[in-house]
Amino acid sequence: MIKPLKIGHYTVKYPLIQGGMGVRISGGSLAGHVAKCGGVGLVAAAGIALNSEFYDGRNYFQAEPLAFKAELKKAYEIAPDGIIGVNVMVALADFEKLVEAAIEGGAKVIVCGAGLPLTLPGLTAHAPDVALVPIVSSLRAAQLIVRKWHKGFNRLPDAIVVEDPDTAGGHLGEKMEVIGNGDYDQYGTIREIKAYLKAEFPEAEIPVIAAGGVWDRPDLLNALEQGADGVQMASRFVATVECDAADEFKQAYINCKKEDIGLIMSPAGLPGRAILSNTANIRQYDLDQKNPCRMACLKKCSYKESRERFCIVTSLDRAQRGDVETGLVFCGTNAWKADHIGTVQEIFNELFDLGKAEADAAA
Ligand SMILES: Cc1cc2nc3c(=O)[nH]c(=O)nc-3n(C[C@H](O)[C@H](O)[C@H](O)COP(=O)(O)O)c2cc1C
Repeated sequence: MIKPLKIGHYTVKYPLIQGGMGVRISGGSLAGHVAKCGGVGLVAAAGIALNSEFYDGRNYFQAEPLAFKAELKKAYEIAPDGIIGVNVMVALADFEKLVEAAIEGGAKVIVCGAGLPLTLPGLTAHAPDVALVPIVSSLRAAQLIVRKWHKGFNRLPDAIVVEDPDTAGGHLGEKMEVIGNGDYDQYGTIREIKAYLKAEFPEAEIPVIAAGGVWDRPDLLNALEQGADGVQMASRFVATVECDAADEFKQAYINCKKEDIGLIMSPAGLPGRAILSNTANIRQYDLDQKNPCRMACLKKCSYKESRERFCIVTSLDRAQRGDVETGLVFCGTNAWKADHIGTVQEIFNELFDLGKAEADAAA
């Protein structure tokens, strides 16, 4: 009953994309192991240079593409035939350069959120086999992207990820005031987008993927039953041996309670979902350290422009390295369900009900 997922030229054994998690939460290790298990593994571009051998404290924009390609290489060493891709946020100052680095690094899929990737098919025209996947939260955003890509580049998305602002982790594509007010309908939005695609492009088969709030097999089956062609899951993969974050980051998920998870306004001008227990320390750290904006990593950022809020990339970097006292721990609403550190294969076994023989063969 669970069918493989077709994304462009690629057939993915299990209809699961591991969501990109920036600033080295999903680097080469996590992406490689997810791809090895038969899903799509994504290396996230945002801040990948930090905590890498390529960054010397001054050369952020030179180091980013190098570190990004090194993580892709690592992922392919783990899963030479795997479907390995990237997540590149449109809001990044070096978006175009990182898309090019992804292609050079052999990414098979490019997933883009945190803004509308209207120019993406132009940037990747020399690599037509690379599957292009925008993340949206509304029919309107999907229509804008599809019309622009079709008219401007004669290209359609190879899949569309629909991210639910009420449950997903990290930056969210909806206004703070309306998140969680009960109006958003994740699967309604998916069905609207599917109906729109079917009406406008009846020949095209564009899978629509549900992101946000999918944790276990019942959630996965529910998503498929409600009309999604697959799921994108991020938070579930944090408490794994293979996740690229420090152990303290993983433990923060295991230790957090449901009520610790909430919304924080990011200097990027978007709300984000995170563990909130330490948020006062995040800004305090920047004040105490008189932290300048060193990298100018985002196109638009209130910390870069006027030192408002906090430096997002360094706060995420601190958390990734294990400082969960002053670092920002992004997570989805389900993170409190993490109760131990397991393996990526165990998650696949549970989600896809793999028997022992199948799991052994995959391992
Ligand atoms: C720690 C963390 C970091 C994230 N970073 C990014 C990112 O860099 N780019 C992006 O498009 N989405 C990012 N996300 C969103 C995920 O890719 C995913 O769509 C979402 O979290 C799915 O919901 P789930 O966590 O409930 O599975 C992040 C999520 C988490 C938990």
